[in-house]
Amino acid sequence: MSTNSIDSLQHEGPRFAPSPEFTANAIASGQLYEQAQADRLGFWATQAKALHWHRDFTQVLDWSDAPFAKWFADGELNVAYNCLDRHVLAGNGERIAIHWEGEPGDSRSISYAELTAEVKQAANLLTKLGVSSGDTVAIYLPNVPEALISMLAVARIGAIHSVVFGGFSAESLRQRIDDAQAKLVITADGGWRKGKVSPLKPAVDGALALNKETPSSVEHVLVVKRGENEVEWVEGRDLWWHEQIATVDSEHEAQGFEAEHPLFILYTSGTTGKPKGILHTSGGYLTQAAFTHRSVFDLHPETDVYWCTADVGWITGHTYAVYGPLANGATSVIYEGTPDAPHAGRWWEIIQKYGVSLFYTAPTAIRTFMKLGRQIPDGFDLSSLRVLGSVGEPINPEAWIWYRDVIGAGTAPVVDTWWQTETGAMMISALPGVTTLKPGSAQVALPGISIEVLDEQGEPVAAGGGGLLVVAEPWPSMLRGIWGDPERFKETYWSKFGTKYFAGDGARLDEDGDIWLLGRVDDVMNVSGHRLSTAEIESALVSHPMVAESAVVGAADEVTGQAVVAFVILRAEHAGTLPDEEASSALRKHVAEQIGAIARPRQIFIVGELPKTRSGKIMRRLLQDVAEGREIGDTTTLADADVMKFITEALPGGAGASA
Ligand code: PRX
Repeated sequence: MSTNSIDSLQHEGPRFAPSPEFTANAIASGQLYEQAQADRLGFWATQAKALHWHRDFTQVLDWSDAPFAKWFADGELNVAYNCLDRHVLAGNGERIAIHWEGEPGDSRSISYAELTAEVKQAANLLTKLGVSSGDTVAIYLPNVPEALISMLAVARIGAIHSVVFGGFSAESLRQRIDDAQAKLVITADGGWRKGKVSPLKPAVDGALALNKETPSSVEHVLVVKRGENEVEWVEGRDLWWHEQIATVDSEHEAQGFEAEHPLFILYTSGTTGKPKGILHTSGGYLTQAAFTHRSVFDLHPETDVYWCTADVGWITGHTYAVYGPLANGATSVIYEGTPDAPHAGRWWEIIQKYGVSLFYTAPTAIRTFMKLGRQIPDGFDLSSLRVLGSVGEPINPEAWIWYRDVIGAGTAPVVDTWWQTETGAMMISALPGVTTLKPGSAQVALPGISIEVLDEQGEPVAAGGGGLLVVAEPWPSMLRGIWGDPERFKETYWSKFGTKYFAGDGARLDEDGDIWLLGRVDDVMNVSGHRLSTAEIESALVSHPMVAESAVVGAADEVTGQAVVAFVILRAEHAGTLPDEEASSALRKHVAEQIGAIARPRQIFIVGELPKTRSGKIMRRLLQDVAEGREIGDTTTLADADVMKFITEALPGGAGASA
């Protein structure tokens, strides 16, 4: 979005004040801001006390070893107990925790009592397989109940999960297994996607067979039977979940772990080729996950049905499909498949079926539905919906309005929530019932969160100005580090503004002090709300024997926000041996194999040269101009001023053509 269009929206755009009825029943009130303003740490301590502590904490924050924060450090809790047992003990065992809907239409509704029992059993199974506190377990599963059960069982025994999204390739999986030294992998014979079973076990087999000279840390592979796929079996290593679970006891007493005990690692793309293992711990993470989930969605757990469409493989799935809703005793929908299988109205059908009242999804999905037309959602009863959330990338005002009008019957508040894998939970969002909504802006920091927009020198920008988004004070669910790499942690987030966290996003403050996110300022792309690094895709491309050099940019895309566009120079011996379309299709496939289908470039342009500065740095800005079909910007710092002319002339049908 250009700065100009933001300016005009600031002044002329529509505003939606909360209705008096909504405000009267709202969970959140304006007092939260006042309380947090008066005593930020006291405010978070109050939120933390809404959880069950095996041992109470006396300290709130220890920031003496900044940037390594400790929250509630002398307290002890069990994350799984907070998500399960305590609801059963409070008399809510019969409440449905999860309405699980499989893509082919099979379904299972699991109560808190049942989920607790299943997690206890799985915890016993993990112990039987030799997993104990501090060990890491890789989870590579479709969106099936066992994914949540596995995460909670790992948490229950104080082990650490590393969930790897099922769309990642064998190579990516192995990289993550090695980095975390996972002892166990939990996977499935397959999961339903787009009307067919997509296999997962072969990728695990492939991952563990890679680099045979250095055997992996994995001792066992636990396989959930979901897809009825034929699977290869490594005797002694591979075990069926259903067979193993039948051998263990269903009683398990949860012990308390220190608040700073690691809960999970989740890998995300950074500006270099190697993904970063973002580390989250227990007490602070769960506190902020539960607080934000409750207040931003206005959760009334006795009556609401909540659905977060994210896969558990992403941070949104961790915090808002698993830990936040379960900590709050909510009833959630978990859906296995894709939005369009077997028909384009599948999501709306699910909302109608379960009476979903709180819905959380990504702008890319909203824009896809907008394109398909309102006749599809109009064919379903969506009248149960009362709060709509958005996450992952800026939501353009047109999509925001469509979401409210068509999905939310013109009345449901839309909350645009800004946060990151690193922040663990929401940081910027409106509060329904409190905030007057402004389409396109994520609006204000949540209570207890301190956000600033700074210029390069670290000075706050004036109202109306643009700059870099920072979090000025530590927050409970902040990342505690990058797994195994404290230096990279300090360098990436803390070297620019000292003890203020640099998020990597550009932002603009409007005259009312509302925040408008402007996208990443580093070499990280955002494709359909998922983070991809240019460096990672470039290194996948040059690992192909045909490729000499490559440059990757994120180009604006109507549906996915950004799309991957690559420019590739072939090695001399390969240049011209294949038609460009064939070379580019082989390379697109190669990237999908190396990283995963989400990283497959939309277009690959085979070029003779890349634009570089005199010091040899590739000028991606110019390539982005080409990829977005714009006039080429300032080329005066190029080593060879003619190179952009050669590139644009050589492109088939100009910049916009599909490879
Ligand atoms: O650029 C911001 C964008 O997504 C990045 C974080 O990506 P990830 O760690 O994968 O987490 C995504 C889900 C929390 C941010 O640096 N982003 C996320 N939410 C928004 C957003 N950009 C604008 N508006 C949002 N609401």
